[in-house]
Amino acid sequence: MKIISNPLELKQYLQSQHATVGYVPTMGALHEGHISLIKHARAENELVVVSIFVNPTQFLAGEDLEKYPRRDEADKKICELAGVDVVFMPQSDDLYFEDEVKVQAPNVRGYVLEGATRPGHFSGVLRVVMKLLNIVNPTRAYFGKKDAQQLHLIELMVKHYFMDVIIVPVDTVRESDGLALSSRNVYLSKEQREDALKISKSLYSASQMVSSGVYDSYVIKEKMLEILSPLEIGYVAIVNREFELIDKVEIGNSVILVEALVGSTRLLDNIWL
Ligand code: PAF
Repeated sequence: MKIISNPLELKQYLQSQHATVGYVPTMGALHEGHISLIKHARAENELVVVSIFVNPTQFLAGEDLEKYPRRDEADKKICELAGVDVVFMPQSDDLYFEDEVKVQAPNVRGYVLEGATRPGHFSGVLRVVMKLLNIVNPTRAYFGKKDAQQLHLIELMVKHYFMDVIIVPVDTVRESDGLALSSRNVYLSKEQREDALKISKSLYSASQMVSSGVYDSYVIKEKMLEILSPLEIGYVAIVNREFELIDKVEIGNSVILVEALVGSTRLLDNIWL
């Protein structure tokens, strides 16, 4: 397994391989969710590239950039065991320039839900993902469905900028009790972890309501809020695959999303119906 930190070196290396490339962008602190993305990439491509970069431009002032878990050595081992060919580990200076040209999140879909609680976050995500995709130039890039709005905006960017990559959405991986895996789960105390289970429970309950014929978004959200109480809620929302709020769940075209604060940890989860 190669470790490369220089973008141009990586670009040249990959170009010389003339192979299909599966790419998994990450911010490190790898867990089973990332391993699942890597497995998909491994199964569908000749070469697998994983990047590990805690991207400063997607953190707002006062967020957890400084304390975001960094575990480079453990992450490299995980990548090696998962059959990754290249780990790309750039520094900020390798990727960002002074007064640079910027891609931005769209005015509406980039500033609702997660974008409303974290204004500017998605511009930072799109900025770095555009750079990373241009450096790696993968055949396919793999993103988790847990970050549903991020995934949607990346799909839009690829479409709007006529980029030549297939974006592959991958299902969320959960603990046996339902908690969606996230690098930020390490911040949770034992007690907070119990509280965090309300999030997946509220989503399971929503899914059961839909299975029993309840499609009204208002009714579903009321029940979810009851289950989530007393957590501080960022949002509970039901959207279609275009990320527009909808009054009624449409099977095959809906995502139910929750953002809640557990202690000071912001957790996201969703189900695709
Ligand atoms: O989902 C993440 O880990 C990050 O937002 C990403 C896509 C690697 C960009 O920094």
